[in-house]
Amino acid sequence: MGFSTDAVHSGQDPDPRTGSVIPPIHQTSTYQQDGLGRPRLGYEYARTKNPTRDGLERNLASLERGREAIAFSSGLAAIQSVLQLLQSGDHVVCTENVYGGTYRLARKVWQRFGLKFTFVDTSDADQVDRAITPETKLLFVESPTNPLLVLSDLGELARRARKRNVRLVVDNTFMTPYFQRPLEMGADLVVHSTTKYLNGHSDVVGGVVVVNDLDIAERLRFIQNASGAVPAPFDCWLVARGVKTLALRMMQHDRNARELARTLACHPRVQHVYYPGLALHPQHELACRQASGFGGIITVELGSYDNARNFMESLEVFLLAESLGGVESLVCHPASMTHASVPVEERARLGVTDGLVRLSVGIEDVEDLIRDVEHALEKVSAQTLRG
Ligand SMILES: Cc1ncc(COP(=O)(O)O)c(C=O)c1O
Repeated sequence: MGFSTDAVHSGQDPDPRTGSVIPPIHQTSTYQQDGLGRPRLGYEYARTKNPTRDGLERNLASLERGREAIAFSSGLAAIQSVLQLLQSGDHVVCTENVYGGTYRLARKVWQRFGLKFTFVDTSDADQVDRAITPETKLLFVESPTNPLLVLSDLGELARRARKRNVRLVVDNTFMTPYFQRPLEMGADLVVHSTTKYLNGHSDVVGGVVVVNDLDIAERLRFIQNASGAVPAPFDCWLVARGVKTLALRMMQHDRNARELARTLACHPRVQHVYYPGLALHPQHELACRQASGFGGIITVELGSYDNARNFMESLEVFLLAESLGGVESLVCHPASMTHASVPVEERARLGVTDGLVRLSVGIEDVEDLIRDVEHALEKVSAQTLRG
């Protein structure tokens, strides 16, 4: 089936008992069994298995064109479960400007248990090659990255990883399977924070891992049950509801962001615009080749903390908040919000400056978004004029 048909119907069959078009929310912790050792359809306890979660997992697997999806209680719980596939002494090569929480999980949690991490610029496949050692088990890539929107060539990395017997994991949160499908490009695992575009309505925290290899799927299922970071049935139901409009939302996010990025790129008070849809983005050609859209995230450099604060506090339609990917436009300050857990020197090296502002462009009327941004830019000091 086509993408939108799958988004609406996969794993979302009407209730066979009543015909209810929308599947019920199985808000239960346990299930009555037909006799000792005779659970119905394998349902024994809701940490292990829940019909609402099963439906969401089938739906998300179909969208990523994977064989199995395993849902978790947050994006980080999904990433954490992927790392739990490893053992002490194993090495992971990771994109250097990943989401701050992923960096923190690696450095502050898993490093204590003997996993080793090397953070490199995965947009340069040769750097990745050089970082791989005989202990390397995973290559973890975020593309585009949060917040600098650096792309990595997923097909090329998949080929190189496979040659070295390393599994490629792609965080596809920013693009969603509507625009980019890493498994089709050779990735082994795809992770998402479903909190973002997949749910799309800023009312759930969730995550998912999608795979083709049934052996990895089984190991992740074991971890899902053994560690217990499972999503609540109501949250699964909300994400499944959100996914039904994913295609429509992504088209509008993308359309609005393209127009806003063009406006920002011409504005004298904006020092730099990061958006893969602009021809000036150094990887614009790769963005066109590996994804069918550019998404709704734009990052701008305003030159100083004061400029960033004045701009953000003057916006009226864009809400000052962490997170992204909801229908409403949000603005955040990566250095003090999403990336506060990345050490100052590391942030400086990566370019996550105090003047950097990330916009999550929603699906409102683009004229209102442009007017809002232009008005707020009046509060940015003219001294930051481009040289
Ligand atoms: C790219 C990316 N991956 C993972 C996460 C973590 O997801 P969650 O907040 O659902 O744990 C985030 C959160 O912002 C993110 O932006």
